[in-house]
Amino acid sequence: MNIYIYENEEGFVQSAANQVTSLLNAKPYAKLGLATGSTPIGLYTRLIEMHRKGLVSFSKATTFNLDEYVGLPENHPESYRTFMNEKLFKHIDINIEQTHIPNGNAADLEEECRAYDQMLEQHGPIDLQLLGIGHNGHIGFNEPGKSLTSGTHLAPLQEKTRQANARFFPSIDDVPTHSVTMGVGSIMKANQIMLLIRGEDKAEIAHRALTGPITTDCPASLLQCHPNVIVLMDQGAGRLFK
Ligand code: GLP
Repeated sequence: MNIYIYENEEGFVQSAANQVTSLLNAKPYAKLGLATGSTPIGLYTRLIEMHRKGLVSFSKATTFNLDEYVGLPENHPESYRTFMNEKLFKHIDINIEQTHIPNGNAADLEEECRAYDQMLEQHGPIDLQLLGIGHNGHIGFNEPGKSLTSGTHLAPLQEKTRQANARFFPSIDDVPTHSVTMGVGSIMKANQIMLLIRGEDKAEIAHRALTGPITTDCPASLLQCHPNVIVLMDQGAGRLFK
């Protein structure tokens, strides 16, 4: 695991963007695993800028998002489909048909999970999987617990996660209670994983996940078992690593 801590936002964002653009420039048909949340927004903005400057094309790439809320209409401002369209897809030359996000409105969610896994298998492995981390150590929406699920599954959101995400909704009651998320097994199949961590409030969980015991109580700690992980942190998140 390679851990990099950046003194400023610029270094953090540009390094993350360089990982993605070097991959795409070397391998235009690359498969990217994408994440939502506030952490990757700076990266997505930089990728748009680099695309506009002619430094990268996404035209042959295929993307797979980690997760989606259950029960939010696709065009809801807080659905992860809307997030990805607004923050990245509509500003770059990607073929929207090549962008995949679990459907949290499928009539049969179990079938949707099976179909998403099958699609990952058919296209896989993902070349580069982006990840953020929740305050409780979740990755995607794989919440801490006695056990973790390997494949894509229907996952209840913990209260802490709903509270953290309530900032995007009119009230906590509007935050969905469930999600469809790729499982830790699917995430671990990626050839390379890039974990992005920003902010003082993530310092403790970053330290626990990356240096503490490997346990289902902290899903991100499983990344310690992956052979090719890079972690990019800002100074706040990396505070306990000095
Ligand atoms: C969300 C997402 C995760 C994300 C995490 C942290 O609920 N499902 O993929 O990494 O929470 O989000 P943020 O970057 O906003 O702190």
